[in-house]
Amino acid sequence: MKTRILTGITTTGTPHLGNYVGAIRPAIAASHNPDAESFFFLADYHALIKCDDPARIQQSTLEIAASWLAVGLDPEKVVFYRQSDIPEIPELTWLLTCVTAKGLLNRAHAYKAATDANRATGEDPDAGINAGLYMYPVLMAADILAFNTNKVPVGRDQVQHIEMARDIGQRFNHIYGGEYFALPEAAIEENVATLPGLDGRKMSKSYNNTIPLWLPERELRKAILGIVTNSQAPGEAKNPDDSNIFAIYQAFANAEETAAMRQAFAAGIGWGDAKQKLHKRINVELAPMRERYETLIAKPGEIEEALRAGAKKARALAQPLLVRLREAVGLRSLRETTSVVSVAKTARIEKPALQPVVFREADAFAFKVLDAKKTVLVERGGFADPKSAMAAAREAMERLQMS
Ligand code: TRP
Repeated sequence: MKTRILTGITTTGTPHLGNYVGAIRPAIAASHNPDAESFFFLADYHALIKCDDPARIQQSTLEIAASWLAVGLDPEKVVFYRQSDIPEIPELTWLLTCVTAKGLLNRAHAYKAATDANRATGEDPDAGINAGLYMYPVLMAADILAFNTNKVPVGRDQVQHIEMARDIGQRFNHIYGGEYFALPEAAIEENVATLPGLDGRKMSKSYNNTIPLWLPERELRKAILGIVTNSQAPGEAKNPDDSNIFAIYQAFANAEETAAMRQAFAAGIGWGDAKQKLHKRINVELAPMRERYETLIAKPGEIEEALRAGAKKARALAQPLLVRLREAVGLRSLRETTSVVSVAKTARIEKPALQPVVFREADAFAFKVLDAKKTVLVERGGFADPKSAMAAAREAMERLQMS
């Protein structure tokens, strides 16, 4: 079985160089691994937690989708979709909410940081905090668990969320007695650079120090010339390991180019020259992608199409899982008031080629629904006659096949 890797991107901002180096580029490289099955999605439900500007949500969704496609995401080879196109995700969120300890959410870093900040100013701890922020980890767990994800590449700040998704999935499995969910692991990209921003702190939209990814060439140059450096003069030897310019250069250059730049620093390259070289190097990499980006963004309808096609693929996986989960928790058809004998415990249901089987039990009739691999997906007993068992089997199949 291929490893399933899932990447979520919150749609609130405009992609910047830090996103490109730290998230987009490595994720796309990883998606080329033939042993992996990659899922990429636009976390627009998550975006609503931080942003109540509808135009910005839409614009950001468009820009981020176009960016990933421009950089080389192939929607034929990966599953690329928008969270809000998958109604199974909010549905799963609720099922998970009901097995999630409130105390677990109290301990989530983002929520704790917000309440701590309120306490520090003598406010009510929950002042100005919406319940979406509180529920953030459960929604994220649903994103992950809906597709039986194995690996989630994240930065350190997100590791706790992956652990929570594991806890929540495990708890559901335990309460309902089955392997409904694969348990995800965080994959922390150790050798991915965090890019310094214009002011030397980590490039982040919360510091307002970013360089947007798709600036036209001249503006990119201007932004790079604006990166702060120390006041060392041309001719003075400079320490590359203490320089934002070098750090950014390294994130784009190959080993040879990096070694050459190291030499240039030792030889006292001036900051202006170093910035010119940096601009040139970045631009070589970005220029062809920028062109694709511009073509894409001019045709939002095509991006919409790609996302819808992706949602179809994603839902084909999430729907059968939700059928099983509804069954497991007791959200069931009232036509079948017989007791459940068992519900499939396999984690994945392949493309349904389902087969009903009716058989006799001691003093009643029963049915099973099998998939192509003869895995029993649903089994129920207690029917008075074969006909009602078959009718119930068909109904169960219909629900399994809903799409
Ligand atoms: N919380 C992630 C972030 O801010 C975005 C995200 C939402 C996500 N759902 C996810 C990431 C599921 C990975 C898996 O970066």
